[in-house]
Amino acid sequence: MAQFIQKHKNTILSILIVSLILQVQCHQFSRKLSPKSHAFKKQKLTHLHFYFQDIAGGDHPTALRVAEAPTTNTSKTGFGATIIIDDPLTEGPNRTSKIIGRAQGMYASADLNVFGLMMAVNFVFLEGKYNGSTVSILGRNGITMPLREMPIVGGTGIFRFARGYVQANTASFNALGDASVEYNVYVLHY
Ligand SMILES: *[C@@H]1O[C@H](CO)[C@@H](O)[C@H](O)[C@H]1NC(C)=O
Ligand SMILES: *[C@@H]1O[C@H](CO)[C@@H](O)[C@H](O)[C@H]1NC(C)=O
Ligand SMILES: *[C@@H]1O[C@H](CO)[C@@H](O)[C@H](O)[C@H]1NC(C)=O
Repeated sequence: MAQFIQKHKNTILSILIVSLILQVQCHQFSRKLSPKSHAFKKQKLTHLHFYFQDIAGGDHPTALRVAEAPTTNTSKTGFGATIIIDDPLTEGPNRTSKIIGRAQGMYASADLNVFGLMMAVNFVFLEGKYNGSTVSILGRNGITMPLREMPIVGGTGIFRFARGYVQANTASFNALGDASVEYNVYVLHY
């Protein structure tokens, strides 16, 4: 036995060192990757166009007020009103047109003086190669302005590493509080 160890001590030592290195690598907290190894090759700029159907009234609302402040109803901007949405995203301005995704998340009245919403919304796409991919919007929506801009803060699926911006303008609204809002999305991704 001792003779065997003596004879092969270099081999045994190498095996021990290699297994030690492998073990360290297995528990490694961080490592550098080539973006190419994850198929992140060329950055693309994609433009998406659709309508956001915010349905507050009727028998099947998709935007529900879930919270308010004691002063919300007397505030000139409804400050504190918080709405959770699962709104259809449609191809055309009419809510009966084809649904290509949904807007899920929340918005809240967050400006004491002029109408301004804080939006935290995920666009979940359902169409073709975008099916299941999402982009996340976080920003201020000054709803009385003709054109509003909000940042894209991230994405999943096709939209991994997403950044960019969206532009929103209200196409129509009615007395029930329903609105159809046109969205142009400009998203950088791989
Ligand atoms: C404020 O107005 C909303 C919407 O009309 C209503 O649902 C809610 O009950 C009101 N809240 C108070 C405290 O009056
Ligand atoms: C939307 O389409 C429906 C059915 O096609 C139609 O009855 C309705 O008038 C349209 N609404 C608008 C606002 O164009
Ligand atoms: C989108 O993906 C879901 C879940 O995988 C699937 O059930 C659905 O049919 C797909 N829709 C389209 C339009 O491909």
